[in-house]
Amino acid sequence: MSDQQNVYPVRDDFAANAWADKAKYEAMYQQSMDDPEGFWAEQAKRLDWIKAPTKIKNTSFARDNVDIRWFEDGLLNVSANCLDRHLEKRGDQTAIIWEGDNPDDSKHITYRELYARTNQLANALKELGIGKGDTVTLYMPMIPEAAMAMLACSRIGAVHSVVFGGFSPDAVAQRVIGADSKLVITADESVRGGKHVPLKENVDAALTRDGTDVCKNVLVVKRTGGEIDWKEGRDVWFDELVDKQSSECEPEAMGAEDPLFILYTSGSTGAPKGLKHTTGGYLTYAAMTHQYVFDYQEGEIYWCTADVGWVTGHSYIVYGPLANGATTLMFEGVPSYPTHGRMGDIVDKHNVNILYTAPTAVRALMAHGENVMDSSKRDSLRLLGSVGEPINPEAWEWFYRVIGNEKCPIVDTWWQTETGGIMIAPLPGATPLKPGSATVPFFGVKPALVDNEGKQLEGATEGNLVILDAWPGQARSIWGDHERFVQTYFSTYDGMYFTGDGCRRDEDGYYWITGRVDDVLNVSGHRMGTAEIESSLVAHSAVAEAAVVGFPHDIKGQGIYIYVTLNDGIDPTDELKKELTQWVRKDIGPIASPDVIQWAPGLPKTRSGKIMRRILRKIAANECDGLGDTSTLADPSVVDELIEHRANQ
Ligand code: WT7
Repeated sequence: MSDQQNVYPVRDDFAANAWADKAKYEAMYQQSMDDPEGFWAEQAKRLDWIKAPTKIKNTSFARDNVDIRWFEDGLLNVSANCLDRHLEKRGDQTAIIWEGDNPDDSKHITYRELYARTNQLANALKELGIGKGDTVTLYMPMIPEAAMAMLACSRIGAVHSVVFGGFSPDAVAQRVIGADSKLVITADESVRGGKHVPLKENVDAALTRDGTDVCKNVLVVKRTGGEIDWKEGRDVWFDELVDKQSSECEPEAMGAEDPLFILYTSGSTGAPKGLKHTTGGYLTYAAMTHQYVFDYQEGEIYWCTADVGWVTGHSYIVYGPLANGATTLMFEGVPSYPTHGRMGDIVDKHNVNILYTAPTAVRALMAHGENVMDSSKRDSLRLLGSVGEPINPEAWEWFYRVIGNEKCPIVDTWWQTETGGIMIAPLPGATPLKPGSATVPFFGVKPALVDNEGKQLEGATEGNLVILDAWPGQARSIWGDHERFVQTYFSTYDGMYFTGDGCRRDEDGYYWITGRVDDVLNVSGHRMGTAEIESSLVAHSAVAEAAVVGFPHDIKGQGIYIYVTLNDGIDPTDELKKELTQWVRKDIGPIASPDVIQWAPGLPKTRSGKIMRRILRKIAANECDGLGDTSTLADPSVVDELIEHRANQ
């Protein structure tokens, strides 16, 4: 292996000036393991508490009693921590730099302005009858109102559920029902890459579905002025309602374990699950990781390119940075518009110091060659970050060399929607980097590798990645279904949180995530359950059966490969392939677009009828020589037929 060939030592300037150097990381990590109570009691002080917690950690991962509480007797308000407490020192500092899809559109919003508008919005929510414990669904473009809406909910103790603006009406409906949302906040349209996406129209469609009548109002930001339908009595213009409100709204005193947000994510089975994140532990963890992993220094401009519809946007565009009084950049558009140099142009325009993005974005740029960034200098950059999927060493080196001008450490951050914040990542002043490795655990994180029976593996080895003890940022439950939470994460290996990822650990104790070991795909850093796509397909009248697997894709990391068995008498035409593609896009959203559809007269199944995905994955990856044992198949000839008619990618 090439582990040892390319090690990037810690830069001297980082070791000298960063929040943590090697000695400090080691000492703090050790303390966080030896005395988690003392460690996190100290860290909780980074927040302003209405009532400081005295009970710090009360957690159990035991299968028959999964119960996770941090700081449980503390009281605080998240928006007050992200806004009010900064006013005195940095009221006039920019909190959010907004960069529009159109490069001519940008604005700066100070902490004072963000405070005032958030309070107005909080009062507006109250006027709409929203209060503590109510849930609000956000289906919004990447505009400052999205951050304001999250913060306004937290101010009054309402629970937000952000739905990514690329999801379909059905996905919105499912989540409105699942969270029992009385209110949806949206915009007329979003704008991405010069194209308008009809968000309000999608909400209108969503709210015609059975069960969505829990939703009483739709609050609509006017983003483009595009034409929309209006339902009197239900729909309310954002500015009309918000402008007239007071800019003071008393923050609600929330228990540390009161819910802050729900965020839906895909699993290996069933419909997406709404992870429940709570208040005190989540914010402590988001803020601390943001400070240490990105080595955020006073006054720096920080840009995370994620969307607020994903957990990365929650923890590292909104909550972590704002809790730390940072300047966070929010970008409405896509990295390829109007040119492929856009990311670099934005860095130069706003003097971005820290850039946190995804391997898929790096690979997409790489495909356009060495000169793709020539319109910018990017001299302001000091640190780069990567998240969402394993970054292949080639992409890492390219990111380092071409984007970072060979002077910026890259923090490859492994974490999940469930973990709330970064779990395994280098600290730039402490950890030598190895391209492709997320490196070492963050404070308080106790990873382990286990075999399929749950036996812990020692030393340099490979296995299933589990976490052995609780950390403050983790999800507490699945909204409305604690049993499913226990089943999904704590039942595979008793007493351990199972991540669903496979992982290798090298001689230096560095962790190398190898990817999901369950039926979850990671397409361009977006997580998708194969079961979700399959159930969408079999709902089409032409489809008898469908099996979905991932296959290696140069830019997306994984692509979506679909095997479809048609009902008797249906012709396997190219038109039908297009129709099925549209069907899935409409049902789930464009991110679930199939890359390849192959007609499968039969699927490889065991005699008990279980589809052998292992074989389908191999065929999709064009590794037809290494299919392994097919003797347990009910009808081995289907495999030859699939190989012979393997679809061209
Ligand atoms: C899955 C979680 C939390 C950030 C966005 C994704 C994969 C995430 C890395 C990384 C290797 C990674 C894992 C994980 N993943 N970051 N740095 N290296 N793999 O959140 O949608 O909940 O997906 O993304 O497979 O389980 P998510």
